[in-house]
Amino acid sequence: MPDLSYVVTTSRRSDPELVARARRWAERLGVRFVARADRSLSRLCREEGVEAGLTVTPVRVGLVIPAEGVEYFYHPSMARTRISNLRDGKGDPMVTAMALQPGDSVLDCTLGRASDAIVAAWVVGAGGRVVGYEADPLIAALTIEGLASYEIEGAGVQEAMRRIDAMQGDCVEVLPALADDSFDVVYFDPFFHEPVNDSQAMQPLRRLGVHRPIPAKAFEEARRVARRRVVVKQRAGARATEPPVAEIVSGSGSSVQYVVLE
Ligand SMILES: C[S@@+](CC[C@H](N)C(=O)[O-])C[C@H]1O[C@@H](n2cnc3c(N)ncnc32)[C@H](O)[C@@H]1O
Repeated sequence: MPDLSYVVTTSRRSDPELVARARRWAERLGVRFVARADRSLSRLCREEGVEAGLTVTPVRVGLVIPAEGVEYFYHPSMARTRISNLRDGKGDPMVTAMALQPGDSVLDCTLGRASDAIVAAWVVGAGGRVVGYEADPLIAALTIEGLASYEIEGAGVQEAMRRIDAMQGDCVEVLPALADDSFDVVYFDPFFHEPVNDSQAMQPLRRLGVHRPIPAKAFEEARRVARRRVVVKQRAGARATEPPVAEIVSGSGSSVQYVVLE
């Protein structure tokens, strides 16, 4: 997260159980817990000298940046719709680019909300494996918690969420420690330099997430770690990356493409 200061608090209406949960979040994230004391979040942030408040409520845990009108909380984004498309035989460009099959293993190097990882976990099934790394500690904690507890309808979607092995970590540091050919597919979905127009839903994640470009050496490590292929999601029409590109699969809209590295 680009230098954002925040504290952990509860909703205005709270009880000892909620306070205890908020204190546990504060401890887990290594930030201060402050009592809400019936303050608006703007006032609380002003008085506590921070930009944002992670608010633990009976229904969810979310980060609010009052001055920017930004709220971030965990949800699986388009995963359920994409899975239902796959079930209806309509396909999914990411799955096509990965040539994903039941039983495969996938390493997601830029986990975010794990929407892509959930789709991958649904396709590979209980016999496969999806491991994901998210560099930002707060996004990682909310995604890890969300994957373990978010309740969602749709055949096999919640089960797919529960199977993902999600961790906090920078893939640039993690990849060199992995053995050759240890995953069938290694996947990257870094933030686009210029966001696509229709990605309003991505705005809060963009505000919080890590924007450092993935260095060429990480893609080289990924090719060593991937048994079958490395797939990178890009803005459509983006210039070919190094190392050389073997195939490009267009996304469902025309705004993104999936690049398969040789
Ligand atoms: C565009 S989002 C990924 C969205 C994700 N594919 C999904 O389905 O929700 C990029 C994410 O990668 C994270 N990230 C960026 N660089 C990273 C790195 N080197 N290692 C791990 N995560 C990284 C960002 O913090 C952000 O959450």
